[in-house]
Amino acid sequence: MYKTVIFNENSVDFDELLVKSAKAIRQGELVVFPTETVYGIGADFTNEKAVKNIFKVKNRPSDNPLIIHVSSIEMALKLIDESVDKELFIKLASKFWPGAISFILKKSDLVGEFLTGGLDTVALRMPSGKIARQLIEKSGTAIAAPSANISGKPSSTRSSHVSDDFNGLVPYIITTDQLPIGVESTVLDLSTGQPLILRPGAVTKDDLERELGYSVEVFCQKESEKPKSPGLKYKHYSPNAAVFALSYDFVYKGDTELIKYLNLQEENEKEDIKIKYLEYPNESEMAKHLFADFRTADKENYHYIAVKSCKKEGLGIAVINRLLKASENKKNL
Ligand code: TXA
Ligand code: MG
Repeated sequence: MYKTVIFNENSVDFDELLVKSAKAIRQGELVVFPTETVYGIGADFTNEKAVKNIFKVKNRPSDNPLIIHVSSIEMALKLIDESVDKELFIKLASKFWPGAISFILKKSDLVGEFLTGGLDTVALRMPSGKIARQLIEKSGTAIAAPSANISGKPSSTRSSHVSDDFNGLVPYIITTDQLPIGVESTVLDLSTGQPLILRPGAVTKDDLERELGYSVEVFCQKESEKPKSPGLKYKHYSPNAAVFALSYDFVYKGDTELIKYLNLQEENEKEDIKIKYLEYPNESEMAKHLFADFRTADKENYHYIAVKSCKKEGLGIAVINRLLKASENKKNL
């Protein structure tokens, strides 16, 4: 167990603690830090023991690869195999980095398979979050980091989430007041001839198509197929409460009506059904608050969470993707 030092970007001793956190990374320790999307839990990508420790503290299956976070395109290029035609990657990275997009490319020998779950490809991202970039620069190494949450649970978007999940398990947790996006980065596979979105995020299909001048598909997992991205086969973003995704045109008329609408009375003999209804003014507000609201509902012991969908456009595509994943095996209306 660690006596974890938790510090905020507004702490008076921020600079000093950031240097200490970077030193901890160099020494093979784990550090939790904010990015513009969600919090990450990071380690020196070259340190096998440290990377394996990330899988351990998150309880993450070892075949689910991590994203390596860099602070420049040059840093990323060293991690990509020589044989790869890098033109497309450089074009897209120059446009969208620093930012909420991870590119999958054939890895160079510098990237260990302990990090890629045995794959010969690697996911690379340069975050726009200032703290994340400072941490990478001060550590002097690229940082392997998945989202900072116990596997299967919603990603962390508040300081309370990371302290709930990792206090005592890592030496340093760096927090910020508000993450600007709130859902994980877009994952774009560039390892085959055809760019393919494996996970929608804040850099949208439209953004990519505008830049590329041709259409880009969003990968849709068929049950019979081997998953393109190992992460796709695991349960994600799920609170303990059962989640229902309601359509965009749903009109809320109170909890009693909602319980009847969802047919919950019959499924449960007990009278005291606790149902949380969530609705947001727009897709970016939904992105910022959905995971936090899931976690709060769990703390307040709700049995069900019913969420009205946002518009399925722009960032809304990513948010609806997370909502549907959270509600898998449940009823979608
Ligand atoms: O915004 C984000 O991407 C956050 C912040 C911390 O940067 N990170 C994040 O990491 O969401 P994680 O590990 O929770 O999600 C990474 C996803 C997983 O679904 C994983 O399977 C996929 O990226 N992935 C990583 N490397 C891959 C590879 N080589 N091929 C296919 N998918 C890969
Ligand atoms: Mg994750």
